Order: sequence, then structure tokens, then C-alpha cells
Amino acid sequence: MTYKADMEIQNKIALVTGGANGIGFAHVRELLRNGAAHVAILDLANSKGDESAKKLNAEFGSDRAIFIVCDVTKQQEFEDAFAKVVKEFGGLDIVINNAGIMDDARWELMIEINITAVVRGTLLAFRYMGKDKGGKGGTLVNVASVAGLVPGKPFPIYHGTKHAVIGISRSFGHPYHYDKSGVRVLTLCPGGTETQLVTKAGGRMLDMVEQQELFDLLDSIPIQRISDSS
Ligand SMILES: NC(=O)c1ccc[n+]([C@@H]2O[C@H](COP(=O)([O-])OP(=O)(O)OC[C@H]3O[C@@H](n4cnc5c(N)ncnc54)[C@H](O)[C@@H]3O)[C@@H](O)[C@H]2O)c1
Repeated sequence: MTYKADMEIQNKIALVTGGANGIGFAHVRELLRNGAAHVAILDLANSKGDESAKKLNAEFGSDRAIFIVCDVTKQQEFEDAFAKVVKEFGGLDIVINNAGIMDDARWELMIEINITAVVRGTLLAFRYMGKDKGGKGGTLVNVASVAGLVPGKPFPIYHGTKHAVIGISRSFGHPYHYDKSGVRVLTLCPGGTETQLVTKAGGRMLDMVEQQELFDLLDSIPIQRISDSS
């Protein structure tokens, strides 16, 4: 093991997918609060990302946060967003693959966002930050969930996607990859958090699962505030 990772956030340039709302927005805010030079919010056109960036710039100073419209299921858009960040800010040090949905009723889209796009974002992070690709090394954070550590009744497919994120991220975190690239990989497993992912979960389950299963789950686990998640 030869980790010599730079733990500093001060003056770093970061990119956060799904950063317009919820846990992603909290990550962007914490990065800026800890002195990141610039943070790019990559999110959907209808995510109100421009309002989120405006709010952060009012709090931390102009041009600290920018909003880039990017659907992470679209390879070219995702790649263009990485290129734009590097061009505009002169580098990239931290990538957080946070965008995710919990929607077993639309499981194919969920697999696209929660697994395929996390792999896409992981490969782009290595390509843009890897020392072996001309970068300086950096930190990649993939957002999984406690749902990736245990089985779950109401959202079996969501749980499966988060198990996949953990397996993929831990494997890219092997020293073999770090020694070549200087990119360390962290896997985050938040517990239940009060975001629209949870508050709008009803109606996003498979027909074969009764709504009561969701109510029972929500009654049985602690739900943290967004500010506690980052
Ligand atoms: N809320 C929880 O209880 C909880 C717990 C553990 C892990 N997580 C994970 O945390 C991450 C963030 O979830 P959240 O609770 O903040 O949800 P959220 O719905 O509040 O925020 C998700 C963000 O992702 C964006 N997004 C969705 N699809 C996208 C796409 N195709 N391209 C780009 N952006 C897209 C949304 O517009 C939104 O801004 C997810 O990966 C989720 O699985 C959430």
C-alpha cells in the first residue's frame, strides 16, 4: 500500500454530479466551505442547478460554483462537462459521482444512472486526473448507500445497484490502480437522508411490493437531515 493522498480541500477544483439538490448540494457546499477554489455542479436541465450555483456564489463569492447541464446517462455530455471544467479552471482534483435515483418502477433507467453512469464517471475521473494520463492524481468519491451493504424488501433493485457501486469502487480503489494513477477512490455509504429520493419514494416501487413495506421500513430506520450527510 503506497497511499500518499493529498487530504487538503483548500484551493482544489471539484466536480459533483447531481449536485443541484439533496446530498450532492450538501457536498458542494461543504467543499466550498472548506476552501475549494471552484466546484462544478453537473445536473439535469430541470434540476434548478443555476439557482443552486447562484445561492452558493452569494454565500462564498462569485464564480466559486458553476452549473453545467449534464445528464450522466449521456456519454458525450458527461465527457464535455469534464473537459469544460479543466478548460475553465485549469485542472481537476476531486470528482464526486453522486447522481442517483431510487426508482424500481423504472429499473432500466435506474441501472443506467446508478451503475453505468458511475462506471462512466469513474473512467472519466481516472482519465482526467490520473498521473499516467498527464494529470496530478486526485480523489474520486462514489456515492453508494447503506442499501449497498444489506438486502432490502421495498427496493430490491435499488439495493442491487448500490451493491454494484460498492464492488466497483472498492476494486478501482485497489493499490494497483492508485500506484499508476495517483487517484484514490472512496466509497460513501450514507444512511437514510431526508431528500426527495426518500420523500417521493412512494409510487416508485415494483407492483409486486406493497406500499406498507415502505412505511414499515421508514418507521424502522433513522432518517438524518441533509446537513448531517456530508
Ligand atoms: N437520500 C437517501 O436516503 C440516500 C441514502 C443513501 C444514499 N443516497 C444516494 O445519494 C445520492 C444523492 O441522492 P439524494 O438523496 O440527494 O437524491 P436527490 O433526488 O435529492 O438528488 C439527486 C440529484 O441527482 C440528479 N440526477 C438524477 N438523475 C440524473 C442524471 N441522469 N444526470 C445528472 N443528474 C441526475 C437530480 O436532478 C438531483 O439533483 C444518490 O446516489 C442516492 O442513491 C441517498
